[in-house]
Amino acid sequence: MLRRLHHEQPESFAFTPENLAWAKAQVTKYPEGRQASAIIPLLWRAQEQEGWLSRPAIEHVADMLGMAHIRALEVATFYFMFQLSPVGSVAHVQVCGTTSCMICGAEDLIGVCREKIADQPHALSADGRFSWEEVECLGACSNAPMAQIGKDYYEDLTAERFAEILDQLARGEVPVPGPQNGRYASEPAEGLTSLKEFESGHTRYNASVQAAVDLGDTIKRIDGTEVPLLAPWGRQSEGDLAMPAAPAQPAGARDDADRAQGRPADATGIDKREAPATTKARPAPAEPGIAAEAGRKPAPLPGAREGGPDDLKQIKGIGPALETLLHDLGIYHFDQIAVWGPDEVVWMDHNLKGFRGRVSRDDWVNQARTLAAGGHTEFSDRVKKGDVY
Ligand code: FES
Repeated sequence: MLRRLHHEQPESFAFTPENLAWAKAQVTKYPEGRQASAIIPLLWRAQEQEGWLSRPAIEHVADMLGMAHIRALEVATFYFMFQLSPVGSVAHVQVCGTTSCMICGAEDLIGVCREKIADQPHALSADGRFSWEEVECLGACSNAPMAQIGKDYYEDLTAERFAEILDQLARGEVPVPGPQNGRYASEPAEGLTSLKEFESGHTRYNASVQAAVDLGDTIKRIDGTEVPLLAPWGRQSEGDLAMPAAPAQPAGARDDADRAQGRPADATGIDKREAPATTKARPAPAEPGIAAEAGRKPAPLPGAREGGPDDLKQIKGIGPALETLLHDLGIYHFDQIAVWGPDEVVWMDHNLKGFRGRVSRDDWVNQARTLAAGGHTEFSDRVKKGDVY
């Protein structure tokens, strides 16, 4: 399939302030000079925000990472997960058309898409609210036929149930994802034949569906304010990392103006997690790239307190080398790490040479809070037992 940029493009792209902070934090995970490694998460976040990848979005991400535009275009046009044309404002529907789903009725589901959305894939419905495409196996073959809608899977579909789901979405409802034929997960339709002891005591829905219901972001455009979706280092102070200034908002574009008014992404109000607007102005940064002094250096101690240092190796992600490095920086105790805020995390993630991004990756702060309060973690138990070398 030929993948080209859409013939109509917006004039510019800008991350929301929260998504920008998230994107900057992603970049700190990679060693100096390897910022381009963050290309896929940044493009993905741009798509999560807008629904699709416009040329300005691709070029903006390339500028953030100091890449030639053509390199970012190569990535965006190579991977089918990136949508290169506008998708429905309510939902983009991806129907699996591979073997299991095809045998079990995928063609009927595609027929529903043609009837209810548009005759051709990647075309918007008449009202612009839906779009669809056929995709390769999504790995839910034992629940065929299935479709991904937004971020979640709708499984064990029939044409009738699928049509109902699309109608529900059109009405502003978000149907519960997962099996649609009464199955809990992918057990036999008649019930479990083995491992029956696991039949009781589970959550109302299987783990994936439960997470989808709890998060409630099945078809939400991600603006970065979704706390459960933020990486621990996702919130950091303004101007701590230098990135290209956000271009001016194009006339007629929805995003910032609507957010400033607290309006949802779509008139259906379906976007139930749409968060209040952030109106703080962000300072225009000086130049692309990561600032040498990102974040704030944690307050050091001149030495360990009486009784000696804590065993920082009880924090997952800290080995002997990092513990020595931390001592060199004046960090000896769990309670010192427990009070680090986003600025300190960014500084540490950026300055632990050879271990960049380790603080946020392993969420040291939360581990340290537990240990400083006298608690324990599954990892600290293993360290104490001598199971970690
Ligand atoms: S064949 Fe459809 S999910 Fe695998």
